[in-house]
Amino acid sequence: MLIREFRLPDLKRVLEIEKMSFDDPYPPHILKDIYNLGAGFLVAQQNNIILGYIIFWIRFEDEGHIISLAVDKKYRRSQVGSELVDMAMDIFRKYGLKVIKLEVRAENKVARKFYKNKGFKEEKLISAYYEDAADAIIMSKILNNASFSYNTK
Ligand SMILES: CC(C)(COP(=O)(O)OP(=O)(O)OC[C@H]1O[C@@H](n2cnc3c(N)ncnc32)[C@H](O)[C@@H]1OP(=O)(O)O)[C@@H](O)C(=O)NCCC(=O)NCCS
Repeated sequence: MLIREFRLPDLKRVLEIEKMSFDDPYPPHILKDIYNLGAGFLVAQQNNIILGYIIFWIRFEDEGHIISLAVDKKYRRSQVGSELVDMAMDIFRKYGLKVIKLEVRAENKVARKFYKNKGFKEEKLISAYYEDAADAIIMSKILNNASFSYNTK
C-alpha cells in the first residue's frame, strides 16, 4: 500500500469514500478549500485504487488536529486507517508538535475504539457540537518525539 499526497484529480474518489462514511459529508468545495489552505491531505492507494484518506493541520503552534479520516467500507479492518494516522503522526512529530487532537461523534463507537487503539484518550464530551445537535468527544494523544520514525535507524 502506498501513502501519498492528495492531488485534485483524486477528489471524486475521496468524495465517494466521504459520502459512504459520513451522514454529513463535506461538500466538494469545502474539501477543495481545506486543500488549498495547505492542510495535510494524504491518500492510501493500492493497485491505483484509493482506499482511504486523512486530512489534518496544525491548529496551534504545538497542536495538530485531525480533520477527517475515512476508509472505503470494502477495505476496512485492513490497517489502512491505522497507517494513515501513523503517517500523519510522523509528520506532526517532524514539525515538533506535542499533542494531536480530534473530535469524534459520541455515537461513533467504531472510531472511538479505533482512536483508543492508536493511543488517544477521551478528554471530554461537548454537547450538541454538531449541526444536528449530536455530541462530540474530544480525543487527544501526546506525541512522543523520541519515537519519531524518521529518527530511528
Ligand atoms: C474509523 C476507520 C477510519 C477505521 O479504519 P480501518 O482502516 O478500518 O481501521 P484499522 O483496520 O486500521 O483498525 C485498527 C484497529 O481499530 C479497531 N477497529 C477498527 N474498526 C473497528 C470495528 N469496526 N470494530 C471494532 N474495532 C475496530 C481495532 O482495534 C483495529 O485493530 P484490529 O483490526 O487488529 O482488531 C473506518 O472505520 C472508517 O472509515 N469509518 C467511517 C468514518 C469515520 O468514522 N472516521 C473517523 C472519524 S473522523
